[in-house]
Order: sequence, then structure tokens, then C-alpha cells
Amino acid sequence: MNHISDIDPQIYSAILAEQKRQSQWMELIASENYQSPAVLEAQSSHFANKYSEWFPGKRYYGWQENTDIIEQLAIDRAKLLFKSDHANVQALSGAAANLCIYSALMNPWDTILWMDLSHWWHLTHWAPVTFFSKIFNFQRYKTKSDWSIDFDQIRSLAKEYKPKVILAWFSAYPRELDYAKFAEIANDVWAICFADIAHIWWFIAAWELNNPFDYGFQVMMTTTHKSLRWPRWALILSKWNVSNPLKKPEDTIENIPTRIDRAVFPGMQGGPHMNTICAIAVALQEASTNEFKAYAKQTLSNAQVLAEELKAKDYKLVTNGTDNHMVVIDFSWTGLDWRIAEEILDRIWISTSKSTIPDDPNPPFKPSWLRIWMQAMTTRWVKESDTKQIVQFIDQAIKCHSEWNEESMNLKLEKISSQVKEFCKSFPVPGIV
Ligand SMILES: Cc1ncc(COP(=O)(O)O)c(C=O)c1O
Repeated sequence: MNHISDIDPQIYSAILAEQKRQSQWMELIASENYQSPAVLEAQSSHFANKYSEWFPGKRYYGWQENTDIIEQLAIDRAKLLFKSDHANVQALSGAAANLCIYSALMNPWDTILWMDLSHWWHLTHWAPVTFFSKIFNFQRYKTKSDWSIDFDQIRSLAKEYKPKVILAWFSAYPRELDYAKFAEIANDVWAICFADIAHIWWFIAAWELNNPFDYGFQVMMTTTHKSLRWPRWALILSKWNVSNPLKKPEDTIENIPTRIDRAVFPGMQGGPHMNTICAIAVALQEASTNEFKAYAKQTLSNAQVLAEELKAKDYKLVTNGTDNHMVVIDFSWTGLDWRIAEEILDRIWISTSKSTIPDDPNPPFKPSWLRIWMQAMTTRWVKESDTKQIVQFIDQAIKCHSEWNEESMNLKLEKISSQVKEFCKSFPVPGIV
């Protein structure tokens, strides 16, 4: 980074400080991960200089041989990895991709069935301030008191509102979904099944979790920077070899890819960021290796250990465990809300993130859950025994909260934080020496 240090010492020192922080901190935040050096190199390649509107083989600007190569490779690799018939690799982020999908599949005021925001869902699908909420009619389903999906409610809402799209997958849901049931309900009302699997797609691609396409879903979206550890971006994938051609000829499944491509460009976006698409292509190549498959397996195994160890120490987990890489601790029954828990863990250099629980008694900025996810630390190759150590750190720090004496609590937290720093030294962040 000699060039940056010469021209802009302030930015240079901020970059170094962030590198240092990332290598010293334990990263357990839901949506963060580490990119590989190869992916970082590709992202800062000279493709950043090129404008490439439209798609491979059909561009508006001249001299596109090299951009066509990288985008076509990204498309082909994504299709292969995710078993889809079509891939659009141009969407700028998860939120942008979701808007493109809605505008491709629906007309204004059409209805979409989705999981209530207060029950696990992500803000970018619907919240009163979003653009989506002004255009489409959202009807919401919820989970039951045992946290399972209420399919009876979905079925009756589907019959009543005849949605164009039924949406599955939720931001913080630690259990597997019954995709076949979603697809059956959608088939009955001629709706399209769409899964926003921003958080779990890597485990689907590695065949460790079920693939919604195998159960009749037609469209999926994933962000690329969470379990996938790629640049911040999104992929939209669709499959049309399914038994649910939509009612009207102009709505046939075969048209979905074209409608999605058009909705992305020129519908919502201008020229794609070719340097990021280049990095996505490299990341997809990395993802086809056995090492990446081993990473998926290890992450899921670490999450199981995390859940079991926390339970053994009497923590209450939402859904009492996990089928994927997410473990969600419910503090609603204790005096300790997530904010105090998050603050305490911050003080020992462990980063975590908050989450609301269904029908949370606390407000959204002070919710009752703490999400702890294992994908980033597994990129640093922590194993099961290391995960047990992580739980020890968390537990010791949380228990300090009950110290009656602030000075002794501070001393204890300081001691644990130096142990966490020592621990992190054994697990380097890719590309940071
Ligand atoms: C399920 C889900 N969809 C969409 C998004 C939005 O993605 P982005 O932040 O890339 O816009 C997120 C972000 O965390 C998410 O969890």
C-alpha cells in the first residue's frame, strides 16, 4: 500500500488501524466474514476502469472482450454451484437485488406474503420507511409460540390474498425450513416461491443444507459477503424447470430470467461494477474447492458445539439450538438485555450483534437477543475445542456483570480481554500478517 501511504497518510493509518482491529478482535457478528487475498486483489483490478452496461455478448460500450469473459465465468460458476438455470451477477447489494426481484415478478399493488418484521425478518423487505412498502401490498405471516413456521396461517393468507410471490427465509432463524410445504401452498395459488437466503447460502451451495430449488422454488437471492465471504454484492438465481408454470402466458417461468435481467439493468441500475464482478468470479472459483466444502462443514460443527456448550452453562437459546451456523441467545428472561451483553463482550474484544425476538417485549434498539455466528471465526480455522474456549470467554465475561464491585469487574474483564487477544493471535485473518 505504498501508493496510499504516499498520497494520503490519514487514510493509510485508518486502514492499518482497521487491519489491526480485525486481527485482534474475535468476530462473531452475523453478517461479517473475511475475504481472501485473491478476492481482494481481483476487486482492486483495472476492471474498475471499464463501463459495461448490459450483459455478456450484448453491451452498449465497445471493447468488452475481457469484461465478457469475467462476467460469463461468474454466471456459469454461480449456476453450477447453486444448481440454477439462470444467474444475474450485477446486483449491487441484497437490498437492491430484492427490489429488482420484486419489480421483475410483480406489478404495483400486487401482494407478497412474507415473514413479519418483528418475527425474524429483514428490514429491507418491508418496513414503513422502505420504498417497497409504498409499492407492494405486504401480507405477513408469523412463527408459532414454539418458533415453528405457521403453515396453516400461510395457507389461509395465500387463499385470501392470492399473492404473486411467497417469500421464505429470515435473517436470524436457526432452523431448517420445510421448502416443500411453501412450494405446495404457492402452487395452489399460482404464486412464485422466492427464498432470500442471504445468510445461509454457502451451506446450501456446499450441500450441507437443503436447496430450495430442489423443492420447487423458482427464485433465490443471496448477499455474497456473509457465509460466502466474498465482496459486498448480491446474486439473483432462478430455475424454471419446475412444475409450476404461472397462469398467464406472459408470466411463464421461462420469462423470469429475462424479467430479472431487465429489472436489474436498465430497471434499477446503471453500469455494473466490473471489478467486483471479477472478484465474485474468483470467489466462485475458490468456492468450488474441497477446502471451501470443508469450511462449510466445520462452521456447522462449530455452531453445534457453541449451542451445546452455551446450553450446558444454562443459557437459554432461541429454538433451543441450531440447524445452521446461527446461535441466538435469549436474554428476555434475565435482567441482562443484549445491550449490556454486547457492551460487556465489546470490552473483551468479542464483536456480536443484537436481534429482536418474535413479539419482543423490548424495543428494536434494545432487543432481547444476542446473535452469535461462527462463519467468520471458522474462516480463521477455529475448531470444536477452540469453540469451547470461545464459550468460556463469553460466559466468564457475562458473569462478571453480577459483580457487585465495579473495580473488580473491570479487572476481570481486562484479564479476559488479554486472553482473547492471545487466542486471536493463533488464528490469523486471511491476508493480514
Ligand atoms: C435476509 C437479508 N436480506 C437482505 C439483506 C440486505 O443486504 P445488503 O446489506 O447487502 O443490502 C440482509 C442484510 O443483512 C439480510 O439479512
